[in-house]
Parts: sequence; structure tokens; C-alpha cells
Amino acid sequence: MPHAPVGSGEQAADPYLGMAIEAAETARGRTSPNPWVGAVVVAVDGRVFTGATEPPGERHAEIVALDAAEAASAITTTTTMITGVDAAGAVTADAAEAGGASEPAGEPATRPTVSAAEGSTLYVTLEPCSHTGRTPPCTERIIAAGVRRVVVALADPDPHVAGSGIRRLKEAGIAVELEKPTGAPARAVASGLAPYLKHRTTGLPWVVLKLAATLDGRIAAPDGSSRWITGEEARLDAHRLRALSDAVIVGAGTVRADDPELTVRTDPSPSRQPLRVVLGRVPESARVAPALEMQGDLREVIEELGRRGCLQVLVEGGARVAHDFHAAGLIDRYVVYLAPALFGGSDAKPMFDGPGVGSIGSVWRGRLVSVGRLGDDVKVELAPEGESAGHPDGSSQGGPLGVRSEDAV
Ligand SMILES: NC(=O)c1ccc[n+]([C@@H]2O[C@H](COP(=O)([O-])OP(=O)(O)OC[C@H]3O[C@@H](n4cnc5c(N)ncnc54)[C@H](OP(=O)(O)O)[C@@H]3O)[C@@H](O)[C@H]2O)c1
Repeated sequence: MPHAPVGSGEQAADPYLGMAIEAAETARGRTSPNPWVGAVVVAVDGRVFTGATEPPGERHAEIVALDAAEAASAITTTTTMITGVDAAGAVTADAAEAGGASEPAGEPATRPTVSAAEGSTLYVTLEPCSHTGRTPPCTERIIAAGVRRVVVALADPDPHVAGSGIRRLKEAGIAVELEKPTGAPARAVASGLAPYLKHRTTGLPWVVLKLAATLDGRIAAPDGSSRWITGEEARLDAHRLRALSDAVIVGAGTVRADDPELTVRTDPSPSRQPLRVVLGRVPESARVAPALEMQGDLREVIEELGRRGCLQVLVEGGARVAHDFHAAGLIDRYVVYLAPALFGGSDAKPMFDGPGVGSIGSVWRGRLVSVGRLGDDVKVELAPEGESAGHPDGSSQGGPLGVRSEDAV
């Protein structure tokens, strides 16, 4: 769910694509390594059926929407069937085949069954898949359902799809419209799907660094204590950010200092927990155990998480880990919760522990993505300057693009 204050949001030009984009966001955080997609079927009689991607191995958005359309047609058919019961109480052949919302009550049905999907337009945020993964190709189901026209907001860069979904639909005689990549709907989808698009085009997950700091930029007291710098609303927001991430990373220093659990504790509880990753060793008694222990070059760490199907990873510190990720240029989004508080001295832990730039001319500058207030705290979100956008919590900001995916369906 989008939850943060948002900067300049992109709006989908077509209301149905807008509905599909909203539906997609409801699935965010539950579909990895698959993309979170939304679909809307608009029947010839104007009825609208919406779908969003289900967890891996379950239905894709298009199938959810088509199932809803076909189930609704069946209900209409039942109403009409009353008109076609013969004297013996059996449903006549015509009536059994009758359908459509406009069938006048009381008249024997004479038309063959018309599913609400038949002749419909399907609006979908991402190009439908045309290959068999954990589920059958969506294209075949769209063709079989009798959809007449498909409007696609964004082509899927996944090598298993990459235009083949659109080609297959066109070959089957369906009118396919692909939105311009520079248009509002495509940009809104690219923004929301930034982690997926990055993963599919680079093999790397989208990396979000999250820190809670005082206004003087300190993340822990000299004795190592840091609980709690920010208030409840900011902490809840941070839990939501965790829930949208496939892995959470901290350094062994943070495990020693804070003994964190690194679980998502939101109400309602999430359907899955992110993979917990510790850089360095995890003491057996640590609350985060069992966790995946990783070490060495941070780019290799991130590459490995990408191979494991992680689309978004959340780096939660501490100071040395934050410094090293930043210095390696691996961060796509900086999320900093700032408390109206000051440690007031240089002995408290800084946000980044390690050498920084030597002069003002080389200072790192980011692009402000959003600023918002959460209780007494302020949430600031930054993107590396020059990068085209995307948003860790799904709110609409423009996004980078997304290669491989033997895991993808
Ligand atoms: N306010 C906040 O948002 C926030 C968030 C997190 C933490 N904190 C605070 O930050 C402090 C901890 O920060 P910190 O800088 O001391 O520690 P840290 O960054 O959490 O962890 C650093 C340690 O992690 C291990 N490590 C890091 N990168 C590694 C790599 N690539 N390969 C192998 N091991 C690696 C090393 O462990 P070894 O030393 O075992 O070799 C290193 O000393 C605590 O006081 C904590 O409360 C605050």
C-alpha cells in the first residue's frame, strides 16, 4: 500500500488503466519474484471486473479479472435461465446457453452464452505473459475468453516476455494498444514497478537504505543505544517499508548493539516475512537467528539476493553498513526519519561511519522524492541525482527500468 507523503504523482490518463494501477498496488510486497500487476476487464455492457496478481504460483492479475467476469456472467445466465425452464422443470438447452445482462426477464433466451469477457476490453498494467512458468500463459486465456481489445500500459522487459505477449495476442486477432513509454500511464506503472524493472534489466534488486536519525544526523548514542529515536508513527511506517521488501539487511554491529528481530510487526500481520540478512556473524542467541549470514563485496551480496528472486532489499544500518552501501553507489532510495531531537555532540554515532568526500565541490547531492510528517518526525526520501525515479513504498514517482528470471512466472 502506498503510505508515504508523495511528491509529484503520475496519474493514468485512462480511468480504467488508473483502476488497474491501483489494483496492482494492492498486491505489492506479495508477488516476488513476480511483478505486481493490475487488470481491469470492461465488458460490452459496461460491467467492470478488477484483478491483481496473487502470490507466486497462483493467478496472475488478468486471470483474476477474467475469472471474475466469467463468474458474473454465470450469475446473469442463472437469472435468465428462469425464463427457460420447461414444463418438467428442466432447463432448456437454449436457456442453459443464454446469458448477458440485457436479456429481458421472462422471455426464452435465444442467444448463445455470452461471457462478460466475450468482446470485452482488458486493461492491464504490464504486458501479459506468453510463456509457461508456475502458471500457464495469460495470453492463451485472454484469447480463449474472447477478449476483443487489450490496452497495455507497459511492455515487460523480462526476457521470457519482451514483446512476445503482445505479438501473440495480435496474431490471435486481438486489437492491442501499447501506451507510449513517455505517457502518464506508462510512467506511473514504471514508477510503481521500479524494483521489478530494475531486477529484470540488471539482475539486481532495488536497494533502499532506511535510517532513523536526530536532526544533527546521529543514529545512536555513544553507548550504542538507539531505541527509540523516532516516534510510533515513523516506526510503523518503517515496518510497512519492511513488509514491502523481500530482504532486510543489517550489520553484525547492529545485531550486537540492538539484538533486533527484523520481523514485520504490523496489524494485520503480513502474509510473509522478508528474508533476514546479517553482514558478518550472528550469535546463536541473537533474536534475529536464524538469519542468512553474508560477507564480502557488497555488490556480490546484492547480486546473490537478486539471484534469489529479491526485488527490493531494505538496508537498515548501522552506520558502517550504511556508509559502505552509499560509498559503493548501490542505493536506489534513501529513506531517513528525522526526529526533532539532538544528541548535541560529535561522540554520537553518525549516519555514515567511514570516510566521506573531501570538499564541498564533491558533496553527494540527491533528488528530493518526498518529504512528509509522521507524528512529530519528518520522513525524507531521496533518490540519487540524475536517476529517473521509482518509489520504495509504491507511491507514484517515475522509475528506472527492470533480466533474468528463471524464478519468474
Ligand atoms: N538509528 C538507526 O536507524 C540505526 C539503525 C541501525 C543501527 N543503529 C545503531 O548503529 C550502531 C551499529 O552501527 P555500526 O556501524 O557499529 O555497525 P553495523 O554497521 O551495524 O555493522 C558493522 C559490522 O558488520 C559487519 N560487516 C559489515 N559489512 C560487512 C561485510 N561486507 N562483510 C562482513 N562483515 C561485515 C562487521 O562485523 P564484525 O565487526 O563482526 O567484523 C562490521 O564491523 C548501533 O549503535 C545501533 O544501535 C541505528
